[in-house]
Parts: sequence; C-alpha cells; structure tokens
Amino acid sequence: MTTTIPNLPLLLKPIFLFLLFSLSFLLFLHSHSHHHRKTTFQSASPSNDLRIRPGYSSYSAYIERQLNKTLNPKLRKIWTTRDWERKVHVFADFFYSLKQRNLLFNDSKALSIGARVGQEVEALKRVGVSDSVGIDLVPYPPLVVKGDFHAQPFNNDTFDFEFSNVFDHALYPSMFVGEIQRTLKPGGVCVLHVSLSRRADKYSANDLFSVKPLLALFKDSELVEVRGVDGFGLDTEVVFRKMRKNII
Ligand SMILES: C[S@@+](CC[C@H](N)C(=O)[O-])C[C@H]1O[C@@H](n2cnc3c(N)ncnc32)[C@H](O)[C@@H]1O
Ligand SMILES: *[C@@H]1O[C@H](CO)[C@@H](O)[C@H](O)[C@H]1NC(C)=O
Ligand SMILES: *[C@@H]1O[C@H](CO)[C@@H](O)[C@H](O)[C@H]1NC(C)=O
Ligand SMILES: *[C@@H]1O[C@H](CO)[C@@H](O)[C@H](O)[C@H]1NC(C)=O
Repeated sequence: MTTTIPNLPLLLKPIFLFLLFSLSFLLFLHSHSHHHRKTTFQSASPSNDLRIRPGYSSYSAYIERQLNKTLNPKLRKIWTTRDWERKVHVFADFFYSLKQRNLLFNDSKALSIGARVGQEVEALKRVGVSDSVGIDLVPYPPLVVKGDFHAQPFNNDTFDFEFSNVFDHALYPSMFVGEIQRTLKPGGVCVLHVSLSRRADKYSANDLFSVKPLLALFKDSELVEVRGVDGFGLDTEVVFRKMRKNII
C-alpha cells in the first residue's frame, strides 16, 4: 500500500502528458480549421474584395487629388504627343476585338469614362465607331467632355456601349456602376478593364481583389465575359450587358 500510492502519480504521468499533448493538438487543429474557414469566407465576401482606400477626408479632397495628376502640364504634353499613337493602337486592338465578338458596332453610340486626353475615344473612331465621346474631370475637346463619373452628364438610356479602365478611381463604386447602368440603353454593353492581381496607382480610390463585387454592383446587368488582358497595368476585361426591361 505504501509503495503503490507514490507510484500512482508516476503511472499517471505519461497519461497526463498524452492527454495534454492530444488536447493541444486538437486545439491547434481547431484554430487552424477555424482560421481556414474564416479566410475562405472572407475572400468570398464581396465587400471584402472591394476596399475603399482610407484617407480621403472629403469629396473635394478626392477630386483635388485626381486633378493633381490630370492637370499636370508636363504630363498632359507627354500624353498628347509621345504617348499618343502607342496608346491609341493598344486601345484600337481592344475595340477591334470587341467588334469581332459582336459587343461593339460601327453604329454603336459609345462612351469612354475617365478618358483623360481621349486616346481611347480616338481609338473607337479609328475602328469605325464614329459616334464616340469621353468624359473626364478635365475636358479635352472635342474628344473628351467634362463630367464626373459619379454623376454622368447624360440622360437615361443614352449609350449602346461604355468602356472604362478607371474603376479603381471611384470613391463610390456603387455610383460609378449605377450611372453606367442608368445611361446605358437596355441591352447596352459595358466593358471594364480592372486590375485584380496588382495594386493600381497611388491615385486609386479603391482596390478590387476579385470580380465578385462587380457582379453584386451590376445588379441590372448580366455578366457576358471575363478574360485576361494586358492593358496598361490592368489585367482583366469584364463585360456586362444591361438587361432589357421586363415586359409586365
Ligand atoms: C489612370 S487615368 C486613366 C486615363 C485614361 N483612361 C487612360 O487609360 O489613358 C484616370 C483618369 O480618371 C479621371 N478621373 C478620376 N476621377 C474621376 C471622376 N470622379 N470622374 C471622371 N473622371 C475621373 C482622372 O482625371 C484621370 O484622367
Ligand atoms: C500636386 O501635388 C504636388 C505634391 O503633392 C504639389 O507640389 C503640386 O502643386 C500639386 N499640383 C496641383 C496642380 O495641384
Ligand atoms: C466599320 O468602319 C470601318 C472603318 O471605317 C470600316 O472599315 C468597316 O467596313 C465598317 N464595318 C461595317 C460593318 O460597316
Ligand atoms: C433615370 O433612371 C433612374 C435610375 O435608373 C431613375 O431613378 C430615374 O427616375 C430615371 N429618370 C427618368 C427621367 O426617367
């Protein structure tokens, strides 16, 4: 009796150690799978795949920041001279390809959003889409007229085709998309070039990590196509078609 009592804790020691080890292992597995579930859930969440950049204290601070680059006289000189032909060619190839896929036609009324000095509008005209115009905070007539993409200066149901490679500059993405859906005719096509894999420039107002947030925003449209492109740092072309009104 006197020998078995001190022996009991000795015998139990390995069992305790085993239990302790198993428990920590189970805890590790649990936290690991929980973490995994959480990250999977988060990457499937639209709001988390579209993040508005902090640091814009007001709408006028945002506009000022956008204008800071767009109004830069040295850059405007480069955009309209040295850069001009090269960029027009790249845009023309994109628009030619969209014509081949019956998403754009010579008689389409076309808008390019955030067109800056209008290389993309010139490209639309060159591939035969003569009724084309651009909007930007800074006009560059006659190709680009003044307009904020959060409040487009056009009536409802105006365009057959809208293109933009500046979604990342939208401080209010739901207004950016809402305005496209408002000004597109029913059945009209919207083509966005976005960056999913690398962060856009320091003038961006949001970061997009998947196409899912776009699917949620384009609620009056259907997704037509998603494909990889190589467009001035933008890697993905997303095509939507505004739904035709339901006949009740
Ligand atoms: C990265 S540049 C792209 C210019 C042009 N699309 C190109 O590829 O050469 C972004 C453009 O978006 C314009 N922009 C930014 N915020 C805007 C807004 N709220 N409404 C209209 N244009 C805006 C800027 O003025 C700038 O010209
Ligand atoms: C743009 O910002 C730079 C540096 O932040 C500043 O020096 C410059 O005056 C600004 N330009 C305009 C047109 O606001
Ligand atoms: C569209 O316009 C282009 C350029 O002007 C022209 O070459 C082409 O034949 C036109 N296509 C159609 C289908 O009219
Ligand atoms: C234009 O479209 C918007 C949004 O789709 C709608 O709320 C508004 O009533 C329309 N305006 C006119 C004049 O039809």
